[in-house]
Parts: sequence; C-alpha cells; structure tokens
Amino acid sequence: TITVDPAAQGAAIDDTMYGVFFEDINRAADGGLYAELVQNRSFEYSTADNASYTPLTSWSVTGAAEAVNDSGRLNERNRTYLSLGAGSSVTNAGYNTGIRVEQGKKYDFSVWARAEGGTTLTVTLKDAAGTLATARQVAVKGGWARYQATFTATRTSNRGRLAVATTNAAALDMVSLFPRDTYKNQPNGLRKDLAEKIEALRPGFLRFPGGCLVNTGSMEDYSEASGWQRERSYQWKDTIGPVEQRATNANFWGYNQSYGLGYYEYFRFAEDIGAMPLPVVPALVTGCGQNKATDDEALLKRHIQDALDLIEFANGPATSTWGKVRARMGHPRPFHLTHIGVGNEENLPHEFYARFQKFRAAIEAKYPEITVVSNSGPDDSGTTFETAWKLNREGGVDMVDEHYYNSPQWFLQNNDRYDSYDRNGPKVFLGEYASQGNAWKNALAEAAYMTGLERNADVVKLASYAPLLANEDYVQWRPDMIWFNNRASWGSANYEVQKLFMNNVGDRVVPSRATGTPSVSGPITGAVGLSTWATSAAYDDVKVTAGNGSTLLSDDFSGGAAQWKHVGGGSWSVQDGQYVQTDAAAENTLVTAGDPAWKDYDLHVKATKKSGK
Ligand code: AHR
Repeated sequence: TITVDPAAQGAAIDDTMYGVFFEDINRAADGGLYAELVQNRSFEYSTADNASYTPLTSWSVTGAAEAVNDSGRLNERNRTYLSLGAGSSVTNAGYNTGIRVEQGKKYDFSVWARAEGGTTLTVTLKDAAGTLATARQVAVKGGWARYQATFTATRTSNRGRLAVATTNAAALDMVSLFPRDTYKNQPNGLRKDLAEKIEALRPGFLRFPGGCLVNTGSMEDYSEASGWQRERSYQWKDTIGPVEQRATNANFWGYNQSYGLGYYEYFRFAEDIGAMPLPVVPALVTGCGQNKATDDEALLKRHIQDALDLIEFANGPATSTWGKVRARMGHPRPFHLTHIGVGNEENLPHEFYARFQKFRAAIEAKYPEITVVSNSGPDDSGTTFETAWKLNREGGVDMVDEHYYNSPQWFLQNNDRYDSYDRNGPKVFLGEYASQGNAWKNALAEAAYMTGLERNADVVKLASYAPLLANEDYVQWRPDMIWFNNRASWGSANYEVQKLFMNNVGDRVVPSRATGTPSVSGPITGAVGLSTWATSAAYDDVKVTAGNGSTLLSDDFSGGAAQWKHVGGGSWSVQDGQYVQTDAAAENTLVTAGDPAWKDYDLHVKATKKSGK
C-alpha cells in the first residue's frame, strides 16, 4: 500500500539534479565522441602512453617513411612528423575495424605538409574491396602549410582506410579526416550519434574531463619548457587553441589523448545540450590507487593560478586575458561556469584537504559566486571517507563529491543512505555511481536508488552515473552507460533509467509511504531481477519462463541454493549468492529498448513458497 500525502511539502528538486559524467576512459574521446576518424594523426603516439606504441601505430608504410623528431617539426608542441620518401605512401587504419564511411556523405580531409621542392599528394579512401571515393590530388609546395580536400563516399564501409601517397619527398603532420556531418555541424566537432544520445538524456550538468584522468601525472613538472614532455599533468591550457598546437599527452587509462576534444569543446558541448558545465581540476594529491602528495609550493601555486585562469576562460569578458582566448576560438559570450571540482578520489584526506583549502581560498577570494566542490575519496564508507567528510564538514565546505560502485543489492539496501545526512552540512555531489552490471536488474536497482536520492534532494544536489561511454573494443572499465564501435552506438538499460529520470525531473518531492510485502508469485512481465528472495530457505521451487513457453531458469533447490539451470545463450555465474548473466553483449541484447526480439522475453516467474502458497 502506498500512501501519498499531496499536501505535505517534500524537498525541492533542482533542474540540474541529474547530469552526466564524461571521462576519456574506454576511448570515449579519440575514436569516440571526438569525430576525428584518423588514429594517431600527429605521429605522437609513444611508449610513454602505452608500452606497445610507436609514432607509426595505426599506420602502415609502403616504400620509405619514418617518424622524425627534429627541428624541422611543425611546431614546438607537435614534436614528431612523418618524413615520406618519393614514390611512397602511408595508410591509416582508424579505430575498431577501420574508418566508417557512408555512401553519399562528405568527409573533410586535411593535412599539414612541407615539400620544399614541391610534390603532389594523392589521397585515397578505400577498403579491401576497392575505392570508397574518388581519389584527391593535393599540390604541396614550400614550408609547412595546411591543405584540404573533400571526399564524397561512393560506398558504405566499416573497414575504410585513408592512404596518402607522394610523388616527391614530403613531410606530413596532422593527417585528418572528419565527417562533414558532425553534431550541430561544428568544426573540430563531435560524433553525431553519440552526442545526440547524450543530448537525449537532457542532462542538468556535464562533469568533465574525469575521473582518474585528471590525476594523470598531476605532480609532474609543469614548467613552460615541459609543455611537450610526456606524462605531464593534465592541464586544461594544453587542450585549447588550434588543434595542431595541442601537445598530446599520456592518458591515465593507458593510451594517448590528442586533446582534440578539449576544454573549449567541453564547454561548447555543455552549452549545446543545455547542461551546466562542471570541470574538475587536479589537487596535487593522487588518488586512484596511489597515495602520494607533493609539497612543491611553486607547483601548487601554478595549479591554483590555472584554476583561476580557467574560471576567467569560461566567464571572463572577451577583453580579459583568457576570455580573449575563448573569444578567438569562436565564443565571445561567457560559458556561465558556476561550479568547479577540485581533486578526484584522493586516498589521503588530510593531505587533500590542506591543498583543497588553498584552492578554495584563492577561488572564493576572486570569484565568491563559484561553488568549489570537495572530495570524499574513493569509497562509500570507511576511515578515509569518514575523515574526509569530517574535514569537509568542519571546514564548512559547500559541496562534497562522493563516488561508489557497488552490487545491485547494495543499492536496494541503501535507499535510505541520505535520509540521515546532516541537513546543515555540505551538500552532496554524487559524482560517480553505478551498480556492477548493465543487466536490467542493475538498471532497476539504480532506479530504486534514485528515488532515495530524489527524496533527499535537499542534500543530494547533483548525481551522475559513471562512466558515460565505452568503445566496445577498448574497454578499461565496465559497466558503462552508452556503448559504441566505429559504426553504431547503443544505450544500456541503465541509460534508459537515466533518461527516464532526467527527462522527468519534478519540482518538489511529494512524500509517500509504502507498507506491506509485494507478492512475488504470478506473472511478472519483464521482471528479470530475481534476487535474494529466491532461496531454498523460503521456496520449494522457482521457475522463469518466457512468453513462448521456454524455460529460462529453474531451480527446485534439490541441490541446495543457487542451482539455477539456464536454458539458452550467454554466460552466467553465481555472484553474491545470485544467479547473474555476465555476458555483457547478451545483456545488452536482452534489454535494449526497441529490440524486435524483446516480445519473446515476456517473462513469467512462478515461485512456490515452502508454506505452499
Ligand atoms: O568511472 C571510472 C573511474 O572510477 C573514475 O575514473 C574514477 O574516478 C573512479 O574510480
């Protein structure tokens, strides 16, 4: 029985309550949201990014070609270029199975090239079956200059390759191919299907660029001269300006980040989808599995100044130093930054808080209107968490970022987590959470949990599922909300839950109370969340059948608990005493909305209680 009291006033819910957390993990940026189709376009891949990388990763050579790092380079921040011998060619393999092109669509090629004696480049789009567009000829003469050409694909292919051949010796850099059709047709733009899937969520905020990503080399040298050194810290200033001047860097998740998707593009995307931008900067204490803090005062000062400059880049007038940079990039109007996060999952709460206070003091002194978000470490509880919260509470911090990844049972059992949070303490930014899986039961557990977040909307001000994106061929972390490869993208069941909540944010909670035990027998269409109730202690047998009569799962408990028999495909295992489907691909197939096979999963659960009911 659910009792609703429409006259009572529950918490007000902010429009920004639910948002998205973008991190360049699982190749979410290059080969993902960033629409560039050429991998390693600037020949900057190196062993500092990944032990298997070379400057020619993703390229194959016919004839004579070598990656060169000398004073003939394109610029000081783009160190390596390709020296291509007369009569030679190079071919790029793109991401996943290759470069995806669609018949009739346009693709913009560009390259920085140098050929003192002059040369002709022949640029080809092809796959194993032949050409995918009419080849283009580009005449090059003299020092470094940018050249462009446009292709119209004559066939559709998922296995395209981009080849550049030269008649005479030439130097090449920034070999690029973009679909003309980017999200909102923007230059240096985003992949349309992915950006539109994120837009369809109608997120209240966009947190970026990570995650542990912001801890990349966060204590490394950051002098001007180190601007091109590898594994240097993630710094927003490295990610803006002309793309050929953005020095690429190692990514925390073990690959190269081109920074083609940089802070300007993040702010622009947030604006385009109507989301509040929420950047996170490193605090010079590394969490994410490391326990290190630096006492380098000069470095700390520099990072604090960078945070202040970031606010000016976002909000300053077009006449200010950093506002001018934003205006030059095409956005004279401010981006309306109101929140900034400092640090991510630091394991050393005292060291973190000491540095956080310095960031906060400097930001509040110059920008008192900005909310500076603090951190509570990597867990939902425990000593680090408690200590971090104590420091944040005693220090009168405005908002604290919490992260946790737990089982679906944990989410069901902790619906009341925030009921007891101090109403006068810091507000909560639940910056990362997910139940461990992309099955429907995970999505249901998260939906149940979100009702608890919403009930406590006076304390929980922002919440984002994490991570947002995963390229299925380069996965560092699962589950993820939206999956993709080079030709398609699909939302998980968890995505559908997020979409449902984000598209239906209420104004105010209407208090309600539930009593009684829901029945578990009888037909339950679509409910696959079989969990702890199905044990030998309470039941004689349990059976799940599909609408077409086939048995999916059955257990008469003759062999004790957890003897489920599964009929059909996919891989299954017993986890935490529950029978779960562990095959991510099968899970996605089972739960994808609009899947034509869905009607076949009209599931019925029949459970016979020991009492005979
Ligand atoms: O969301 C994936 C990772 O989980 C994030 O980078 C990190 O903050 C957390 O541990």
